[in-house]
Amino acid sequence: MFSETPNHAPGPVRVAVIGMGNVGSTFAYALLLSGLAAEIVLIDNNVGKAEGEAMDLNHTVPFAHPTRIWSGDLNDCAGAAVTVLTAGVGQRPGQSRLDCIQANAKIWRDIVPKIAQHNPDGILLVATNPVDVLTYAALKLSRLPRSRVIGSGTILDTSRFRFLLSQHFGVDARSIHAFIIGEHGDSEVPVWSLANIAGMRLPDYCRLHGISCDDATMRKIFEATRDAAYSIIQRKGATYYAVAAGLMRITETILRHQNTVLSVSSLIEDYYGIDGICLSLPTVLDRGGVRQVLRLELDEQEQRNLRHSADILKQTISKVNLD
Ligand SMILES: NC(=O)c1ccc[n+]([C@@H]2O[C@H](COP(=O)([O-])OP(=O)(O)OC[C@H]3O[C@@H](n4cnc5c(N)ncnc54)[C@H](O)[C@@H]3O)[C@@H](O)[C@H]2O)c1
Repeated sequence: MFSETPNHAPGPVRVAVIGMGNVGSTFAYALLLSGLAAEIVLIDNNVGKAEGEAMDLNHTVPFAHPTRIWSGDLNDCAGAAVTVLTAGVGQRPGQSRLDCIQANAKIWRDIVPKIAQHNPDGILLVATNPVDVLTYAALKLSRLPRSRVIGSGTILDTSRFRFLLSQHFGVDARSIHAFIIGEHGDSEVPVWSLANIAGMRLPDYCRLHGISCDDATMRKIFEATRDAAYSIIQRKGATYYAVAAGLMRITETILRHQNTVLSVSSLIEDYYGIDGICLSLPTVLDRGGVRQVLRLELDEQEQRNLRHSADILKQTISKVNLD
């Protein structure tokens, strides 16, 4: 158990969004419609873009909830319960997430210490890629407690996985209990050994319902999950609706102290030999951020795959200057 509560200042609930591109603006729109925040501050070094988004969102208020929305700067992170970081470059067609590291680490060295200085009590929620490496960088550069630095991690991959499994099994995605863990990226790991529908392991469900569950079919479902971003980016240039919904889900569980289990990235210590890096595991989140990282009992192949994922992240972290 890590989190100390409460973390945020009394008064109107403020959420700061840094980076007003596809992901940041879609998240801000979803947040406004949810009514969860009383204040939403939009920050981008392209000030005109943030101003335009603020105007457009303000014109949404009469259809939504009374909310103060403005284009601000890093000073306005003060008092925010959650600061969502979506600033930076994304993957271009054919690029991996890890390819974005140098450009985005440079932005992190500039903005993260300032955010922490203005807002020492809030939670940082990182979405920019490579999200696990930048969550680790945010932890080091902000010097905030580990419970208050969270990456969206594999929340999106888990959602894609559950959707694709739901199509195969003909069951509501919300009734599919399955997680993707590790890196949000090419080395991510499906936890087949614990995946279930109503507590029934997938091979049992298949046998009893006459559905095919052979290795090749399951492998295809995982590959479509893992490679979804490449397929979407090739077609529309970026992905943003599902990640924005995932960021909303994380923000909601924090602001409403819901103790929800979500696969998010945070500092992992002493887990199957993995130590001192950020990656995703199912995690209980409350208003203090990370309450508890759940230590799954993985089979041997899953343990090996997770260590491989951790090694890849460690190599990328070693290439980043965090001073
Ligand atoms: N974690 C996930 O699951 C997930 C999913 C989709 C995209 N992403 C990542 O989110 C990031 C943003 O993607 P996008 O499509 O919104 O990109 P985008 O190019 O549309 O927007 C990025 C914004 O960041 C702003 N920016 C750059 N430097 C800044 C700074 N120093 N301060 C403030 N703002 C700054 C830019 O002006 C731009 O408006 C990318 O790294 C992308 O890979 C993550």
